[in-house]
Amino acid sequence: MTPEYNYSVPGVLKNAIDWASRPYGDSAWQGKPAAIMGASMGTIGTARAQYHLRQIFVFLNMFPINQPEVMIGNAAEQFDEQGNLTDEKTKELIRQLLQNLADWTRRIGQSQRQ
Ligand SMILES: Cc1cc2nc3c(=O)[nH]c(=O)nc-3n(C[C@H](O)[C@H](O)[C@H](O)COP(=O)(O)O)c2cc1C
Repeated sequence: MTPEYNYSVPGVLKNAIDWASRPYGDSAWQGKPAAIMGASMGTIGTARAQYHLRQIFVFLNMFPINQPEVMIGNAAEQFDEQGNLTDEKTKELIRQLLQNLADWTRRIGQSQRQ
């Protein structure tokens, strides 16, 4: 889950990714499946940050899910005061993304055992 800072991923997220990727040749990210989602106050819903994250995943040799893309715009209107997501369409998108991640993780796991 990423917010968007100045059209990219926040520096703290990049820093965490960078630390876990070293020492070179012993990256914690190597070959891992991933799902990306994000929320922001604007209308574009972290799209630019998410595509930067996908670019980073190329070098880390990670395998992110492509679809559905979960880009939650106008986030202030999608959550209640307790921080719970209220929009049913968005909830369904997240459910689908997580289902795809579970299926994809099993498939990758199987191919690594063969
Ligand atoms: C330095 C900085 C840059 C930001 N840049 C963007 C941006 O490019 N696109 C966007 O949709 N929101 C941007 N935001 C808004 C954040 O994504 C977020 O919605 C906002 O900071 C509210 O969350 P917070 O209370 O955790 O800071 C930016 C926020 C900060 C602090």
